[in-house]
Amino acid sequence: MARWRSRWWQLQSPPGVGEAVVLTTPGPVFSRDPGTAAYYERRAAEYDEWYLGAGRFVVADRPGWGAELDLVVGLVRALPPVRTLDVGCGTGFLTRHLRGLTVGLDRSPAMVALARAGLGEGVAVVGDALALPFAAGSLDRVFTGHFYGHLPPAERAGFLAQARRVADELVVVDSALRAGVEPEQCQERVLNDGSRHRVYKRYLRAQQLADEISGEVVHDGTWFVAARTHWRRRAETPSVSPGPG
Ligand SMILES: C[S@@+](CC[C@H](N)C(=O)[O-])C[C@H]1O[C@@H](n2cnc3c(N)ncnc32)[C@H](O)[C@@H]1O
Repeated sequence: MARWRSRWWQLQSPPGVGEAVVLTTPGPVFSRDPGTAAYYERRAAEYDEWYLGAGRFVVADRPGWGAELDLVVGLVRALPPVRTLDVGCGTGFLTRHLRGLTVGLDRSPAMVALARAGLGEGVAVVGDALALPFAAGSLDRVFTGHFYGHLPPAERAGFLAQARRVADELVVVDSALRAGVEPEQCQERVLNDGSRHRVYKRYLRAQQLADEISGEVVHDGTWFVAARTHWRRRAETPSVSPGPG
């Protein structure tokens, strides 16, 4: 049973159903939530403190975080250089390690300004992950870091449909599920100015992430998970191998 309740996600156990949980409408939101948009806009300037263990995160007890982050950055750098769109790119912390023609996209103008400053030859644009402003098949890869795991089911389906429309490959980096952590949370986030915000977030097992995107695991760590799928290649692979003729 989820331990939290919020204004926009009420949990109810109907009589006689024991531990069953019914989600009543409206459900959790992320990409379409104005409060969440305001939160990231306000957080942009301090966002990288989370990655760097600075500011409020100096006191965070995260054994092995730095070394594993280096591994994830290495994984991003090792991706073959193709036309890549980083959806929900934030400050561009991971985006700038992508090789090839790189476009960062984020709903927050403050995040985009920071990403743009660090991207060198790449570009960053304000846009909506659920209505990507790119023609079908105009890119090779959609990359996304710590965005997919925030999406509740309807937004998840919308994002995957958009990613598949514009590219053949999807690479997702996200937060790993650790012992003692609720896999699905409505978190209260506090910014350096003391403001408080509510954010929907899931923590994922690597295989779960791979299954959700019909792909394979590329990183299974303590703090991060990553998975990758090639839609066209999968579609071209026969599901039953032909027997001897
Ligand atoms: C947790 S941050 C991830 C930033 C970065 N990719 C990373 O790996 O740290 C989530 C980002 O998604 C962006 N975002 C939320 N809804 C969006 C939407 N509908 N379209 C594009 N970006 C969105 C937020 O502005 C925020 O920068």
